[in-house]
Amino acid sequence: MDVTLNREPKWSKIDHLFVVLAENEKHFPIKSLQKILRDSGFKGRSDETITVLSDEPRKVTLIGVGEKDKLTLRAIRCAIYAIGKTAKKQRDRSIAVAVPYEVPDLDAADSTRVLADFLAQADYKYDTYITTKKDEDGGGPIRATLIPLDNLDAKRIKQIESQSRAIRSGIRTVRDLGNAPANVVTPTHLADRAEEMARAAGVKCTVYGRKEIERMKMGGLLAVNSGSAQEPRFIVLEYSPKKARKHVALVGKGITFDSGGISIKPADRMEEMKFDMCGAAAVIGTIEAAAKLELPVKITGAIPSTDNLPSGSAYKPGDIITMMSGKTVEIVNTDAEGRMILGDALHYASQLKPDHLIDYATLTGACVIALASEAEWADMKNSGGRWGGAITAAMFLKEFVDCPSWAHLDIAGTAYAEHETSREARGATGAGVRVTVAFLESLSRS
Ligand code: BES
Ligand code: MN
Ligand code: ZN
Repeated sequence: MDVTLNREPKWSKIDHLFVVLAENEKHFPIKSLQKILRDSGFKGRSDETITVLSDEPRKVTLIGVGEKDKLTLRAIRCAIYAIGKTAKKQRDRSIAVAVPYEVPDLDAADSTRVLADFLAQADYKYDTYITTKKDEDGGGPIRATLIPLDNLDAKRIKQIESQSRAIRSGIRTVRDLGNAPANVVTPTHLADRAEEMARAAGVKCTVYGRKEIERMKMGGLLAVNSGSAQEPRFIVLEYSPKKARKHVALVGKGITFDSGGISIKPADRMEEMKFDMCGAAAVIGTIEAAAKLELPVKITGAIPSTDNLPSGSAYKPGDIITMMSGKTVEIVNTDAEGRMILGDALHYASQLKPDHLIDYATLTGACVIALASEAEWADMKNSGGRWGGAITAAMFLKEFVDCPSWAHLDIAGTAYAEHETSREARGATGAGVRVTVAFLESLSRS
């Protein structure tokens, strides 16, 4: 959805106005329409929605979110997602949305930006390959006007509008890349998309092919790639604003399809492994957003990319691989491939001596807490088994990190949703962008 902020939209141009209201709200945020609330008998309970036919705008829908004191970000997010779905179903082309409350813990400006961000995603659906589009999908994107909170001046409102556009385009990039199938998103394609983003956002992009990856001795990336018919890529993005005081490196797992390799995965739900490049997508989308926001922070993105497939040339359990750092790894399970490519990328990024290093990876299906250690053939094994897997995977990565401030985000559970939720559409979620933009903004303030 394209979102603009405007306190007084031309009501004759709006098909549908949505107003999110708490219980027993007496003040309607649009004074000229106050009567609608009074006459409707609307209470504002959390399961309550009423649509009233009016003059201008033609339709007004009131959405209850329950007690004002107990308002949560989640409740607001669900209400906004429901607005997107309703507008689509009713084929509204132009809507207005009012949420006259601050989000808990946020000021008026940040609340408005968060609302604009959620609204922008509310009609998102990955339908690139649907050949029988329904009516509701046609007609182009919905234009939304978000009515900002009272205490924001015009200059601030313009600023929030463009900030939320920047974040929207970053998140869109992540979702579209994540949702696209693996026969389209190969390492080469991922690099092309990164270059495209970089060109549009004024970011430098360098793509290394197999020869250069060999020269850099990225043994982990080459091992995982050895079973593939697709060439590997190592993508480096550099956003270097003039007034930058800090340097942050972002590393993203770019496995375009994870079959498990020789340690092949069961067939059930294997198709979800097209999402195994969501970490890479998060890096591309975050840098896009940061560049468009003109954040005064230098950012380097490093993305190792390959698919993980079995073949006669594939790496095998028992193989010992020498990583870029010189450390050796005994392969126990070829399905623990993410850490092999990230080990090299984290070593590469550490050499740049950034102030902070963050990695994003759909790394482990595991979440049981326990830690195992065993005698080994090499410096380390690439798997300690399933138990404690999320932690042993992180500990493996730690071996390749040389940075005093490192954050590892295992986004295996948040990068994509199997089913639609009350908050958002199924598929890639854009995980990583919002939290990193907030972190980068906090750096530029400090
Ligand atoms: N890409 C998977 C992790 C994953 C699984 C993400 C399910 C999202 C949903 C990763 O490469 C993997 O296979 N991890 C293994 C590690 C194990 C072999 C040590 C896992 O978690 O089972
Ligand atoms: Mn795997
Ligand atoms: Zn994987």
